[in-house]
Amino acid sequence: MLPYAEPYKIKMIEPMYPSTRDDREQWIKDARYNLFNLKSHQVFIDLLTDSGTGAMSQEQWSALMSGDESYAGSKSFEQLRETITSLTGFPYVLPTHQGRAAENVLFSVLVKEGNVIPGNAHFDTTKGHIEFRKANAFDCTIDEASDTSVYHPFKGNLDIGKLENVFQVYGKERIPFIIVTITCNSTGGQPVSMENMKAVREFADKYGIPVIFDAARFAENAYFIKTREKGHKDRSVREIVKEMFSLADGMTMSSKKDGIVNMGGFIALNSKAIFREATTYNIMFEGYITYGGMSGRDMAALARGLKEATTFAYLESRIKQVHYLGEVLRENGIPVQEPFGGHAIFVDAGRFLPRVPKEEFIAQTLALELYLESGVRAVEIGTLLADRNPETRENRYPKLEMVRLTIPRRVYTRNHMDYVAAAMQHIYQRQDTITSGYKIRYEAPIMRHFTVELEKIPGSV
Ligand code: F0G
Repeated sequence: MLPYAEPYKIKMIEPMYPSTRDDREQWIKDARYNLFNLKSHQVFIDLLTDSGTGAMSQEQWSALMSGDESYAGSKSFEQLRETITSLTGFPYVLPTHQGRAAENVLFSVLVKEGNVIPGNAHFDTTKGHIEFRKANAFDCTIDEASDTSVYHPFKGNLDIGKLENVFQVYGKERIPFIIVTITCNSTGGQPVSMENMKAVREFADKYGIPVIFDAARFAENAYFIKTREKGHKDRSVREIVKEMFSLADGMTMSSKKDGIVNMGGFIALNSKAIFREATTYNIMFEGYITYGGMSGRDMAALARGLKEATTFAYLESRIKQVHYLGEVLRENGIPVQEPFGGHAIFVDAGRFLPRVPKEEFIAQTLALELYLESGVRAVEIGTLLADRNPETRENRYPKLEMVRLTIPRRVYTRNHMDYVAAAMQHIYQRQDTITSGYKIRYEAPIMRHFTVELEKIPGSV
């Protein structure tokens, strides 16, 4: 059999920036050990995020040229709305400038003080928008998701027993909706099965509560349903996508992921009443209802991107690249979340650096080691991100301390993946010598990881 090869070639290139260890030591100290503070030229391979970092196709670049910049009634908006409605079935669409803006607008309608919103490991901005409104996010993900040594094909699934418990404790009057994140970013880009989506729908119907999908990586989720779940192998990605969304009442979307654009988001809904309420907030926060913070050309490129993202050929090349990196790491004995997720490989930093105390930010320590070793920028998904309990102000220690190696769409080559894996291997070989981490010098009251300033705790070599 011939080896797998990407179904696209490169038309335009962008320089990368190699550096020395001495350079990086100075830069990261100046950045107060926060990888978000680095300048892009101080980074060699950037695996901070897959959000807005993908490469557009020639068809998307052409679509930009035909963007209609009319303030109201833009043709590009019509194209986008038709594409979204035909993919998801939702008739009402509101563009926003990115995913968190969609959350801001929709939650302004739906979330009230004292509410409780159960879901599967809410993304940090989703949780931020809930907690900002003095409501609570309850994580109802299945237990298997937080054990990287256990195999489960759908580690994004919700535990219906946990959902039931939230409803019993708080009562349905305090629960405006259930949120299902597809794929579940926080547990490792892990998919939710169609069977589980159906179970959540059934459960929600029992209480008469809407289901909202946080759908940033919905196409990757559909790929996993097709390739992992019984009964879906012969269906097209778009058929699966349509069925997935038929199980929800609405969605928020960060188009920077499976829209394969650099900026954008939207809300799509079945309910005209909620849509009408949301339009007021959209006009206040985002822009008029037919552009909502996006230019016409960007909406045109997004309409095209959504079509490309829902083809099997694209998804196969995307996911195979991510899994290639996972396989090389696994072969080297590095503990990673398995099965591999859609957009990233999550390294289990707790198992990788067992000698660093949890109070010293284990995953951040590993992400910083990786940067110093190689110029690769990854991101911490651990105690810094988990933030403090809003009431007690104590640190929340998550079950998993992870470093996310996030792969931008259609940007890097297999050699880049090999470079990242080799850098990880070098650190793994000296894991015993890393015994201490970092302490906080400054932190913001909410979503602290973006702006936190750290100081190295002396100890490790
Ligand atoms: N929901 C999920 C599941 C996400 O992963 C993100 C963003 C958002 C919502 C918010 O969307 O960035 O367009 O405002 N995730 C990025 C990441 C930032 O790196 O995982 P946004």
